[in-house]
Amino acid sequence: MASSAASSSSSVFALLGAVFALHLCCCHGRQGVAAIYSLGDSITDTGNLVKEAPPGAFETIKHLPYGVTLGYPTGRCSDGLLMIDFLAQDMGLPFLNPYLGKNKSFDHGVNFAVAGATAMDPAGLFGPRSFSMPFTVSSLKLQLRWFKDFLKSSFATDEDIRKRLQSSIVLVGEIGGNDYNYAFFTNKNVSDVEKLIPAVVQTIIDAAKEVLDMGASRVIIPGNFPIGCIPGYLTTMGSSEPSDYDSTGCLREMNLFAAKHNSKLQQAIAGLRSSYPNASIAYADYYNSFFSILKSASSLGFDANSTRMACCGAGGKYNYDERKMCGMEGTTACAEPSAYLSWDGIHMTQAAYKAMSRLIYHGRYLQPQILNFPEKKGKK
Ligand SMILES: *[C@@H]1O[C@H](CO)[C@@H](O)[C@H](O)[C@H]1NC(C)=O
Ligand SMILES: *[C@@H]1O[C@H](CO)[C@@H](O)[C@H](O)[C@H]1NC(C)=O
Ligand SMILES: *[C@@H]1O[C@H](CO)[C@@H](O)[C@H](O)[C@H]1NC(C)=O
Ligand SMILES: *[C@@H]1O[C@H](CO)[C@@H](O)[C@H](O)[C@H]1NC(C)=O
Repeated sequence: MASSAASSSSSVFALLGAVFALHLCCCHGRQGVAAIYSLGDSITDTGNLVKEAPPGAFETIKHLPYGVTLGYPTGRCSDGLLMIDFLAQDMGLPFLNPYLGKNKSFDHGVNFAVAGATAMDPAGLFGPRSFSMPFTVSSLKLQLRWFKDFLKSSFATDEDIRKRLQSSIVLVGEIGGNDYNYAFFTNKNVSDVEKLIPAVVQTIIDAAKEVLDMGASRVIIPGNFPIGCIPGYLTTMGSSEPSDYDSTGCLREMNLFAAKHNSKLQQAIAGLRSSYPNASIAYADYYNSFFSILKSASSLGFDANSTRMACCGAGGKYNYDERKMCGMEGTTACAEPSAYLSWDGIHMTQAAYKAMSRLIYHGRYLQPQILNFPEKKGKK
């Protein structure tokens, strides 16, 4: 059902594309955007981790029910499409191919994001072998190196790279969420994990600077989700004390933590804007757009009773069990992923990502709103 919604909307986009193509040069999508480049983690990975992972590793995301809404698995950590896919579609561009995918077109962008990636180098973060879940070593720094290698091998001169980036959108993140996830998983307490925030934010900002120095003129830097609302944290950090939960049933302390990261990130982005006055640098507010969806879940078509439940899992209060993650034996996916916000307890459903991408890319949660979709004309 959701897949037919996706295909009918893509034919609408194809139609719009035909109309707008008249005003654009042959090789650009809407708004003069020729390409989208993306650095990040599982929120945006469209297939890198599954290419990187040896056989036997990360089997769950290589198989259904991952991808069930599309009808086949794609390496995306969801039942279907991600925010980055909706952004590409809205820009009149094809979906971003994963950098590690073989024989794929990178004419309209590349996705360097790897599920599980951290902002900081894993070794620097936790010391050698001091944490148990090195999902991937493809941290932001390595992704940035891929990005540079790709541009250098695709364009003859730095000036050509600059020109290309001036007609592109570059997403730096969401990234950093895993730095914190891994720290929390090793049973560090919130005040310990908070100590990582300045270095994580600095790592993100340093990456954005490199991208801007290469010539990027439109950069989007997303913040973290309200992680206290996701089934994974609600389960592992659950409390018997009612006052630990807010009125929406989310864990206060975890949301406060995410808000601290976001506020530090926004401050740093403001500094970046003053260093690069000619570039458009936007903060994508995943935190408040998620809350906006949570608060109007039923009017958006979600089951208001399931906003904190994973669609795919093995039972329990939030349908999440870290020993039985979606796709493992004994787990099942719900019949209607589009009624849920959370797909597997960590990642969101296609329907939730679609709703978020509308609020962000077409609404007020991209700050400032650097994309200017036609529908906004006429409204104020
Ligand atoms: C990839 O492209 C190369 C060169 O064009 C070709 O030889 C090879 O068969 C292709 N591989 C796949 C899997 O399509
Ligand atoms: C957090 O853990 C550290 C040890 O890693 C301890 O020194 C500190 O008191 C703890 N803080 C809180 C608020 O529990
Ligand atoms: C910003 O743009 C202005 C006007 O186009 C130009 O004169 C100036 O050199 C640019 N500044 C930087 C830092 O690129
Ligand atoms: C949601 O829960 C409320 C209260 O428990 C119940 O009355 C309502 O029928 C439920 N809605 C759905 C769609 O299950």
